[in-house]
Amino acid sequence: MKKLIIDVDTGVDDAQAIMMALADPDVKILGITCCNGNTPLQNVLKNTLRVLKVCDKLDIPVYRGCGEPVLAPRKNAGDYHGKDGLGDAPDPDAPGLDLLNGQNAVEAMIKMVNENPGEVTLVATAPLTNLAVAVQLAPNFHKKLKALYIMGGNTDSRGNTTDCGEFNFVADTEAAYIVLDRYTCPTYIATWEFSCRSSLPWSFCDEWLAQDTKKAAFMKKISKLSMDKARSADYQKEITAGKGFNSCDSYAMAAALDDTIITDSEKVAVTVELVGTQTRGMMVLDYMELLKKKHKVTIIKTIDLEKFKKLLMDSLK
Ligand code: BDR
Repeated sequence: MKKLIIDVDTGVDDAQAIMMALADPDVKILGITCCNGNTPLQNVLKNTLRVLKVCDKLDIPVYRGCGEPVLAPRKNAGDYHGKDGLGDAPDPDAPGLDLLNGQNAVEAMIKMVNENPGEVTLVATAPLTNLAVAVQLAPNFHKKLKALYIMGGNTDSRGNTTDCGEFNFVADTEAAYIVLDRYTCPTYIATWEFSCRSSLPWSFCDEWLAQDTKKAAFMKKISKLSMDKARSADYQKEITAGKGFNSCDSYAMAAALDDTIITDSEKVAVTVELVGTQTRGMMVLDYMELLKKKHKVTIIKTIDLEKFKKLLMDSLK
């Protein structure tokens, strides 16, 4: 049984990634840790509980993490995910925050990993604030992880939030720097451009959301705003230059659930630009090995899209 911690800023694609993990019978989710990101932390907590409720999995502990980035001003992505983070689709039956576990997310993360040394795969689909604070509090934290899967960063300086910066790395640039500098466990990165190259065709999205299940009805409702936006010609031209929908966080999750899904990757040392006037938050790939870093991360370049679609399809059954 694969043991997972999922660190989220539940948004639409975080919800998709969480539901993918919930549908995997070989996975035990130890806990879901929440962080500011797509939407302010209060919404992230509520959204995560909403996802668990629709999947009848409210027994999985959800923890409150960092509500502010390490240093940068708080940033959210309401224009894409909705002000509430889940498409502004009203939910009168949303569970209350009294269902949260009372422990702080960062302490919970450290505890779960200490109790399962070498066994926990951490999937991070949010700005990396909680992970950065974890390694500050427990400097050996990363050494006890089995693997880390991150959605974030970019490979050829194409951003989605600034010209050169991807949202998660721009929203907490210092945290991304700390994590990529300190974590030495096997690390896999699903970047923004990789997500764009792996867009889901709209014909698939229609079929995926047309399934006659409670989960599909929920997903259709929360995805409408972002899918409408992603379908618009301007968005496709400016941001993705692609032909479909990018369920960004689901790519990192899929790779964590089934590493045979990765069909091409490369190993390289990376860092994050902290100070560039135009390039803050950009991931820098150290092909020339000038940084003299021993630890190389795996940058995912392509995946088996058919396997990926099946995981998404199954997640709404
Ligand atoms: C990332 O930023 C967020 O909007 C998504 O949830 C994803 O984690 C894509 O850049």
